[in-house]
Amino acid sequence: MLDGKKVIFSGMQATGNLTLGNYLGALKNWAQLTDEYECYYCVVDEHSITIRQDPAVLRKRARALLILYIAAGIDPEKSVLYFQSHVSAHAELAWILNCYTYMGEMSRMTQFKDKSAKHEDNINVGLFAYPVLMAADILLYQADLVPVGIDQKQHLEICRDIAERFNNIYGDVFTIPDGYYGSTGAKVMSLQNPEKKMSKSDENPNASIYLMDDTDTIMRKFKRAVTDSLGVIGYGPEQPGISNLIDIYCACTGKKVEEALKEFDGRGYGELKMAVGEAVCGQLAPLQAEVARLTKEKDYIDRIIKNNAERAAYTAGKTLRKVQHKIGFPDRIR
Ligand code: TYM
Repeated sequence: MLDGKKVIFSGMQATGNLTLGNYLGALKNWAQLTDEYECYYCVVDEHSITIRQDPAVLRKRARALLILYIAAGIDPEKSVLYFQSHVSAHAELAWILNCYTYMGEMSRMTQFKDKSAKHEDNINVGLFAYPVLMAADILLYQADLVPVGIDQKQHLEICRDIAERFNNIYGDVFTIPDGYYGSTGAKVMSLQNPEKKMSKSDENPNASIYLMDDTDTIMRKFKRAVTDSLGVIGYGPEQPGISNLIDIYCACTGKKVEEALKEFDGRGYGELKMAVGEAVCGQLAPLQAEVARLTKEKDYIDRIIKNNAERAAYTAGKTLRKVQHKIGFPDRIR
């Protein structure tokens, strides 16, 4: 904790095309928390290789993601934005925590079950131990809060379990982190199947709004969004498609669900879709322009990559050395 501020840690994978779900569920909240907290936002490239990646594409996407963090309004002088692979403490702590995590706990993780069903030919140990690396990410920075979408809740709970187990043996080593979920946007659903979350790995491109989609594409996807045959704009489990559109609208405009329902009372689904599309374009167009501008600032971005990795390594190193000492590794000779 610096300057008495509480600490935030979060991360995103540089795989696939990022979606509106990643933005509304995570990135938008990250940017709003930077004044109040000491924030570490990581591009988790080590997590990405649990699924086979093309090296050139991964490298490019990781850099583009770091640029996106800045474009989303996160000031890299204040917050620490960096690549996970540039701070070796992540992998080192993950190894240690592997030895305090049970096979049974990991095999219950729904993301492991989903991903191993999808990639049957590559069910590797890294995919299995993925949540332990995620726990190491968070615990290295003694994070108080972790802003994520609802899909990461199970991983956060196992992180807390591992930290509590470790603290019970060795004393108060780790801060126990809490999840931070936005009131709207914490689970953006697919536009084609509103029972399923919007995902960058969805095979149907109409199911997801990608952050780099142009205005026409965004409007077209919303026009095609699956709704229902009730014909009344309501909110609840019997209207998952309409509820998802309302949630997206609220997450983009900052309005409350009740306000939005009042606004659309008596209006048709077509009008709602247009309004949501416009609200999304209003968020993404400036973001895209900022990404385009920053991408050309090569020296500036390089400097941030270097400086921020050093800042992250400094904080992470302190926790790692404490852990190593507690478990009985010989102290370094200075
Ligand atoms: P990832 O890369 O899959 O997603 C990044 C963030 O986007 C959120 N998200 C969503 N939110 C709302 N609706 C959706 N449809 C949606 N899809 C994705 C995710 O919840 C996440 O917050 N394991 C993590 C990355 C990670 C991490 C960490 C996160 C690694 N270490 C430490 C926090 C702390 C992941 O794969 O997120």
